[in-house]
Amino acid sequence: MTNGKKKKVVLVLGAQWGDEGKGKIVDVLSRFFDYSVRFQGGPNAGHTVVFDGRKVVLHTIPSGILQPNCSAVISNGVLVDPDVFRRELETLEKSGVDFRGRIFISPLCHIILDFHKLLDSIIDKRSNIGTTKMGIGPSVEFKVMRKGIRIKDIFSNSLRDKLKDVLDYAKTLCKALDDISDFEHYFDINRVEKKLNEFGEVIHDFVFETDILLKRSINEGKRILLEGAQGILLDIDFGSYPFVTSTNTTPGGALTGTGLGPKDIDLILGVSKVYTTRVGGGFFPSEINDPELSQKLREIGQEYGATTGRPRRVGWLDFPMLRYAIRVGSIDLLALTKIDTLEKFGRSLYVEEYLIDGKKFTEFSPLIDVQNIKTVLKEFRTSDIKNIVEDLTGVKTVIRSYGPERENIKFDEEFYSFLVS
Ligand code: IMP
Ligand code: MG
Repeated sequence: MTNGKKKKVVLVLGAQWGDEGKGKIVDVLSRFFDYSVRFQGGPNAGHTVVFDGRKVVLHTIPSGILQPNCSAVISNGVLVDPDVFRRELETLEKSGVDFRGRIFISPLCHIILDFHKLLDSIIDKRSNIGTTKMGIGPSVEFKVMRKGIRIKDIFSNSLRDKLKDVLDYAKTLCKALDDISDFEHYFDINRVEKKLNEFGEVIHDFVFETDILLKRSINEGKRILLEGAQGILLDIDFGSYPFVTSTNTTPGGALTGTGLGPKDIDLILGVSKVYTTRVGGGFFPSEINDPELSQKLREIGQEYGATTGRPRRVGWLDFPMLRYAIRVGSIDLLALTKIDTLEKFGRSLYVEEYLIDGKKFTEFSPLIDVQNIKTVLKEFRTSDIKNIVEDLTGVKTVIRSYGPERENIKFDEEFYSFLVS
């Protein structure tokens, strides 16, 4: 089974605020891997992959499913929305992807219930984080409150009792927070139970203890690609708190979210665009504030949310932020994406450092006064980007992407040999 290949576990992380093009990188890399694994987040993610001229957007199922040799694993750290998951299976079917026997989903995954999405909207009206409203925050909150419903619960005869407790609690909470009157159906236990049972039938054959599967596969010398969602600056601990997602996008998330140990991961690959985007609220030091200029970049790069369709805010590549992401993400190597967009845009600037009250900062810190950041910008030739990034971060860039298609991706020879050896 192993073809004498050395075991390889590679973790791919977004080095910015998400939407770095991880889906595409993972799609291309998964040709060399036996398993592609989603381990945190949920349908707030939108991984866009273009193959054979077709665009496929995946929210829960790892992009690796698009390579026939690779199996897709949704491990315990992922929040699963039954509706989104079913739609994704349909999308795969329509795209002619044969996924039979290639999808594994952990019984320990928490399920996003409809009231989590309702709560997400209610809470975001007050906090203005600008969440995706996919129910991510509330389902993590219920998980931590020990009031989560997991996939394994669907198959247990205590489901109804658990649901009763959870729905009672959630209803009280929603009523206290908002005076919407027509939300009774969210808490109708028969309705919720029926929906979960139907979902149980859909996923029955996919459910598998993915922690055991992954450990066993490593021991058998198989190769595993761990596919991060969102980006390091959206990490609940190290990100731009409170404007973050509710899961850990830093490497720890890949461990608690799979059951693997720190020594199981061989390499961490960070993905960064050669400019920056962010959706939702929160500080963004390198943001382009000229509306015409930012709109032009947004159009050329098609920077609209894959999950919500929202226009993404755009800015320059931010080295203090990237250095921070490399450090807290323990990033070994980098992949740079959207080089073609910047080339077409015709102007390339980067933020070299921050000035705050006259003091220089070469690396972002969560302790600095973000309101007072002044950015020091430098112009550069887009074709020099590899050398610039390597000089300014000390990290090798081994993949460069020049467009949405699979063939627009260039690998460094040494890295390519690592993949095929
Ligand atoms: P939530 O994850 O839906 O709770 O949203 C929290 C913040 O993370 C918001 O600013 C979202 O726009 C952002 N966010 C969540 N998922 C993604 C993603 O996949 N790409 C980019 N931003 C995201
Ligand atoms: Mg995305």
